[in-house]
Amino acid sequence: MSILVTGGAGFIGSNFVLDWLAQSDERVVNLDALTYAGNLQNLASLQGDARHVFMRGDITDRALVDRLLAEHRPRAIVHFAAESHVDRSIHGPGAFMKTNVDGTFTLLEAARAHWNTLQGDEKAAWRFHHVSTDEVYGSLAPGAPAFTETHPYEPNSPYSASKAASDHLVRAWHHTYGLPVLTTNCSNNYGPFHFPEKLIPLMIVNALAGKPLPVYGDGQQIRDWLYVGDHCSAIRAVLAGGRVGEVYNIGGWNEQANIDIVNIVCGLLDELRPDPAGPYARLITYVKDRPGHDRRYAIDARKIERELGWRPAETFGTGIRKTVRWYLEHADWVANVQSGGYRDWLSKNYAAR
Ligand code: NAD
Ligand code: DAU
Repeated sequence: MSILVTGGAGFIGSNFVLDWLAQSDERVVNLDALTYAGNLQNLASLQGDARHVFMRGDITDRALVDRLLAEHRPRAIVHFAAESHVDRSIHGPGAFMKTNVDGTFTLLEAARAHWNTLQGDEKAAWRFHHVSTDEVYGSLAPGAPAFTETHPYEPNSPYSASKAASDHLVRAWHHTYGLPVLTTNCSNNYGPFHFPEKLIPLMIVNALAGKPLPVYGDGQQIRDWLYVGDHCSAIRAVLAGGRVGEVYNIGGWNEQANIDIVNIVCGLLDELRPDPAGPYARLITYVKDRPGHDRRYAIDARKIERELGWRPAETFGTGIRKTVRWYLEHADWVANVQSGGYRDWLSKNYAAR
């Protein structure tokens, strides 16, 4: 038995593959294009492990996806591959349409053709698990109830619009063709292997380098943070027991304003790696806001708890401490991802703020 994971060299995908193989011997076929966000170093501990089959390739390549499905006959596809950074989607939305919309369409068509060849128990047990985001629901007013699975779709950025489009395709392939799909919409993740273009890892690596900590706008935007290992356990729970065609929201019950997150990270660094120059919070710098910046996200995760008994294992306190420690202990990983391409992105995104 095996599963096909797309985007398994990225942040959440690599955590998922590592967690999966730590808990079971079921083989993982990992299809990843290794864009700037994909990093085989994340999977270095699996070198020589026959349970992990890595294939560099693009999810928009139908012939390749067909070949992988025919050759490995996975019992499920777990689809993580995406362009995932909102700021990059503002600078260049094209890649988001290609991977997130076209790529999901290609996978669905390949999955449909493959699933139609199956019979009996194999066909009944087969699943397409689409990994999506809470950003498809748009922005919440202060005090408004958290997003449930029936909240209207109101995506506001090119990224969230492309993910919303992919969610709609997945829904339609179930409704029209009967493809056995599952969709999860998760809140902001943090943890090991998080690329330092996103808020938490960027703040850690900038602080350690004595660089400014750029906080967009007034820093009062709210996100609902979840430790990545908890997202992985939620996906495993939905894949194992989720009802076909259903959507499950996943969140950490942990709403925090960005400025509070940055101060918490600074406080942990002060404790674990004090800077003789003074507290890290001195580096906080308010910069021009993100265009169309969503004000607040919050997930109502009662459905997955009620139906599948899933709840996060980490509190924000335990998860963020583990995360900061991980970055302190993996300076080599950080140095390796800070390539020329990474520096070009920083100057593109921050120079004009
Ligand atoms: P990431 O950017 O870290 O990783 C994406 C991975 O997909 C990379 O390994 C990249 O090489 C690969 N990829 C990109 N385009 C590809 C293509 N055309 N073909 C094959 N592989 C390709 O992303 P992430 O943060 O790990 O997010 C994974 C998934 O989870 C995404 O679908 C994202 O929308 C969703 N999600 C992310 C978060 C979060 O907080 N990061 C929260 C909720 C949902
Ligand atoms: O909610 C789930 C989403 O969370 C995922 O779908 C996305 O893939 C993931 O990137 C993340 O999106 P955000 O835009 O919320 O994450 P990001 O880390 O980019 O930003 C978090 C908040 O911090 C957001 O309000 C913008 C702010 N921010 C971000 C950066 C990079 C800053 O204030 N300064 C920064 O330099």
